[in-house]
Amino acid sequence: MSVSVSNSPEVDLSTPPAAGMVRVTFLPEGRTVEFAFDTLPYGGHGLPMSFLDVAMNYGIFLDHACGGVCACTTCHLHVKQGAPGISESEDLELDRLETAAGIELNSRLGCQAVIEKPGTYVVEIPKWNRNYVQEGKPAHGPGS
Ligand code: FES
Repeated sequence: MSVSVSNSPEVDLSTPPAAGMVRVTFLPEGRTVEFAFDTLPYGGHGLPMSFLDVAMNYGIFLDHACGGVCACTTCHLHVKQGAPGISESEDLELDRLETAAGIELNSRLGCQAVIEKPGTYVVEIPKWNRNYVQEGKPAHGPGS
């Protein structure tokens, strides 16, 4: 399988991705990568085709203190576009997310959210995760 992975791909954002392509933009950095669906080599970071997997393939920083096994929240991100093409959250991810700072309806763990089809995806890495500052303890504990 031939795969073209570049650290600084040129992506023409003025047109939608071609059929069969996946386009992912990581905010706030604004890095956009594009590749043919199901061709990205798996680097062992989170689930295959997770946002963590994509980020690591392209040298984009997304913290992953537990190594991508759903045991921390440092890969927390917000899905701004493309949610219908992403895997559903499993219970383990939802339980883990409850402990994350700044959780929103579009919150996912980057190591568990898997791109399941071609299309355009935009995710935002929260500031506190970009720096992995362990202040800001979870302010909520639902107790269940
Ligand atoms: S890297 Fe730890 S939960 Fe995703």
